[in-house]
Amino acid sequence: MSNTDAEMPAIYPPSPAVLDQAWIKDWRSYAKNANLDPVTYWEGRARELEWSRLWTTVLDDSQAPFYKWFTGARTNIVTNAIDRHLQGPRKNKLALLWESEDGQETRTFSYFSLNREVTTMANVLKALGVRKGDRVTIYLPRIPEVFFAMLACAKIGAVHSVIFAGFSADALTSRIDDSESKVVITSDGSWINGSVFPLKDIVDEAVRFSPTVENVLVVKRTGTKVHMDPLRDHWYHDLTALPIARGTCETVQVDAEDPLFILYTSGSTGKPKAVLHTHGGYMVGTYATLHDTFDIHDEDRFWCTADAGWITGHSYVVYGPLLCGATSFMYEGGPSYPHPDRWWSLIEHFGITTLYTAPTAIRSLMRFGDAWVNRHDLSSLRLLGTVGEPINPEAWRWFYEVVGGSRAPIMDTWWQTETGMFQIAGVPAMPQKPGSAGYPVFGQRAEIVDDKGNPVPDGTEGFLTLLNPWPAMMRTLYNDDQRYLDSYWNVFPGRYATGDSARRDSDGYYWVIGRTDDIIKVSGHRLGTAEIEAAVASATAVAEAAAIGLPHEIKGNAIHVYVVLNPGHEGNRTTVEEIRAHVAAHLSPIAKPDEVVFVESLPKTRSGKIMRRVLRARALGHDEGDLSTLDD
Ligand code: WT7
Repeated sequence: MSNTDAEMPAIYPPSPAVLDQAWIKDWRSYAKNANLDPVTYWEGRARELEWSRLWTTVLDDSQAPFYKWFTGARTNIVTNAIDRHLQGPRKNKLALLWESEDGQETRTFSYFSLNREVTTMANVLKALGVRKGDRVTIYLPRIPEVFFAMLACAKIGAVHSVIFAGFSADALTSRIDDSESKVVITSDGSWINGSVFPLKDIVDEAVRFSPTVENVLVVKRTGTKVHMDPLRDHWYHDLTALPIARGTCETVQVDAEDPLFILYTSGSTGKPKAVLHTHGGYMVGTYATLHDTFDIHDEDRFWCTADAGWITGHSYVVYGPLLCGATSFMYEGGPSYPHPDRWWSLIEHFGITTLYTAPTAIRSLMRFGDAWVNRHDLSSLRLLGTVGEPINPEAWRWFYEVVGGSRAPIMDTWWQTETGMFQIAGVPAMPQKPGSAGYPVFGQRAEIVDDKGNPVPDGTEGFLTLLNPWPAMMRTLYNDDQRYLDSYWNVFPGRYATGDSARRDSDGYYWVIGRTDDIIKVSGHRLGTAEIEAAVASATAVAEAAAIGLPHEIKGNAIHVYVVLNPGHEGNRTTVEEIRAHVAAHLSPIAKPDEVVFVESLPKTRSGKIMRRVLRARALGHDEGDLSTLDD
């Protein structure tokens, strides 16, 4: 993968057609105004939505960095994602379009029928005893019920915790326990490349000793035979047939600062971080950023390929599109099953106008060649987007030219689970530079600093920090205020530390380089070295392990683990496969190491910390740097 390409233009100005359609044409003065007074800017954006009581303060920074937004206000994200659309012509507009992996099933929901489904699920949850503030774990594949479940929780003021349905039982248990969920919503199974992944079995294992889970709600998807505990488990379709599921359900008006969801994400230590987002600010932030960056128009069909188990799915599959009154498309399967043109055929068939995906998916599809794309009419596409990791020039150009017909700008969006919404991203009218996410979003300021927190000159790599609070920012780490402070605010006082390195060019464009901490982005998925190491080390053969990420052509990074074996175990092919399978079963198949290397010992500091940078330098043949802290 080369990072330079002399033939490629460095900057792509918007075409007259793009400019003509764009909501925001004069983005420079728009940005200038917003940045002059971000609080007033955000207040204006909030006024575009419905509130049952207005705020007394837009931004309360008296307890900073525990910022509060729109204090005193009451609303519910569902009031704006669904209810307000039922009052006008959008009532009959498609809110959700869905297609099954095998292509045999299409399900469509207008805002009217989405409301009916969400109301039904909300009534069922209430009947199961779920009350405002209770936590509900959602462990579902990409099916419409994941929309219903998330929105039903929000509607009654419950707090959802969606777990990506590729995590294993151990990972699920720790997240259910940490959130003290009362109910788990799952399905009998999920379809993955034509076979069934046994979600219900995994839930059974995960909740067996749960002190909090009272009920498990099971959506029938694959028809697989599953065990149903008569006291705990309920088929969703059985409950929806009962009178309890019928009738209307009030969208409870909550405080703007009431919690909407918890989302677990990887940190530098083994324990995942429970990122907490709230109704009011998250609603305003996801609405405004999706509207501006993807220039949402009523006739759009928006497809964000992320899974609802990640923040991208929360913000830009479920909430953002509905808040904008858009049509969101969801596809159950992956990019290349049963054929490498599956996605392209969906775009043609459904007339998708906007495709938002990850560089790793683009690289994996690019590998199959242009012919798979070219046999489809993709002329409906008017905008493209990427997220999750930096995009390399080759993938950018292929996406732009072959997929977008050199017609659709690529919106590179930099953000994080913690930020809830885009932080560095353009709008279509802004000239795009391949590989750069552009400028901070309206109302945001970013700075690159050295390790002491002093800004560095343009062109120099440093730590990416954010200066202004923004409405969709996480409020804390659930039950762990101290970790919130230490991870994000105590690193560089007065700044939000992103954990990424970046540089800014002389035009003010930001170029994100990658993580500076012990987080590895593998195929756009975020994994912590410590959690991978813990999973590896729990295999019987393993005494201790170190995990690092090394560059990979398609995945961006690949996981390499260095393993010290227990006495009596041999470092052979079988052990490698055992370790890989063990990680898949105990953490997730997405965390399976690409390489397992057996070593006699691991490089450590005298205080016993693994020096991963030494392993990385050795693997890449680089200079090992300062080894003065290395123990022997
Ligand atoms: C990390 C956050 C919220 C988006 C999905 C990932 C990396 C994200 C970009 C981008 C370069 C990016 C960063 C960030 N990242 N978007 N456009 N260009 N890097 O969310 O799992 O919380 O990961 O993803 O390293 O810190 P996440």
